[in-house]
Amino acid sequence: MAVARDQKSARKKSAPQKSSRAAGKKAGAVKSTKKTANPLGLEKKAPGRFDTLQEIALAAHRKLPPEVWDHLMGGADSEMTLRRNRAGLDALALRQRVLVDVRNIDLGTTLLGQKLAFPVFPAPVGGFLGKVHHEGGTAVARAAVSRGTTAFIATAAKPSLEAAQAAVKTRLIFQLYVRGDRTWIEGILDRVRKAGYGALCVTVDRNFYGRRERDIVSGLPVKEGFGDQSYQASLNWKDLVWMKERVGLPLVAKGIATAEDAELAVEHGADVVYVSNHGGRQLDHAQGSIEVLAEVVKAAAGRAEVLADGGVQRGTDVVKMLCLGASAVGVGKLLGLALSAGGEAGVARMLELMELEVRTALGLMGVTSIKQLGPQWLRAVPVLGTPSPVSAYPLLEAAVRREASPLGGQRGAR
Ligand SMILES: Cc1cc2nc3c(=O)[nH]c(=O)nc-3n(C[C@H](O)[C@H](O)[C@H](O)COP(=O)(O)O)c2cc1C
Repeated sequence: MAVARDQKSARKKSAPQKSSRAAGKKAGAVKSTKKTANPLGLEKKAPGRFDTLQEIALAAHRKLPPEVWDHLMGGADSEMTLRRNRAGLDALALRQRVLVDVRNIDLGTTLLGQKLAFPVFPAPVGGFLGKVHHEGGTAVARAAVSRGTTAFIATAAKPSLEAAQAAVKTRLIFQLYVRGDRTWIEGILDRVRKAGYGALCVTVDRNFYGRRERDIVSGLPVKEGFGDQSYQASLNWKDLVWMKERVGLPLVAKGIATAEDAELAVEHGADVVYVSNHGGRQLDHAQGSIEVLAEVVKAAAGRAEVLADGGVQRGTDVVKMLCLGASAVGVGKLLGLALSAGGEAGVARMLELMELEVRTALGLMGVTSIKQLGPQWLRAVPVLGTPSPVSAYPLLEAAVRREASPLGGQRGAR
């Protein structure tokens, strides 16, 4: 088992050599206060007690079989879009002002008139959540609402779209993949309305299924198990108008990445334009999400709210997206990591830590409300290191680098 293996090697490394111990005595070296040889002690932590986002990601890395890890963390083809999501975020630095009274910081935002305690939400993550947790979508809904935010519930949510909405009092957002003809869509939209959802999100960047080569090579059967995918390929703007009318709810268009499409989305009734490239899982060699955010915000010109996701792993990433005009920010891979690491409690803790990181960043920037954020807080900087989906977590990056095989080595035998 990898956990046992990790503990063993950590023990070996931390066993002090005689000579260095003597040298330490002489120099009055500071003694480690750690009783355990495992520096992180992840195995002993209840899911709700992770102290850092990094620990959540590390715990998931230890738990997930390599091919499942790769499915969650990988992208399409050469994974350039995947890396650009991070590179775009890393290419921006935050400015800071000092001697501002930051005892009270207002993180509140709104989405379609609903108050969110802080500007982060679980993005729609479909079949994966149900694979790592029997109540996938429902667990995420409960965790999000318990932290004062909302959640997007995917078409493939387990146990069902109805169960996720019934588990909470807040109205959630349902995300649609079109997998059938108009009769099929009517059926699902009627269920969405009846279940009490507050908005319909149509994902528009999945007309083809991106070629995720990690899944193809590892032979992972990634089938969502419902309907015919070809209907998504024929989707057009008029369908969006029809869907909004049929469901009678506000419309979110997810997967917008250009000013032109933002304009069209607004013209065709989108109340929210959601900037996303599906976490780098669809079109390869696209721009990073944050790189296109400003042009979308400009095109929406206040006529629609703007959400964004893509590569967000840290509170500082959230702050950067808010500076460029997003009103709230989604997490996809991080959600998958949190649910894998600790179920519902893991997701709630992840959101709590995200909130803590956003608050800390704003405090250190001298900002007392997210309303004060804007592009003036950002500067373009050279990117350091190699951006990747794990590069925001140095300990995880090191663990992944140690893996023998490019598809994940020998983890997951637990
Ligand atoms: C495993 C996985 C499954 C996903 N499933 C869906 C889905 O069912 N519907 C959807 O609109 N987006 C889906 N996405 C995309 C996310 O909603 C989101 O756009 C993306 O993950 C954000 O980037 P990030 O993973 O870097 O945070 C999925 C992403 C992942 C990682």
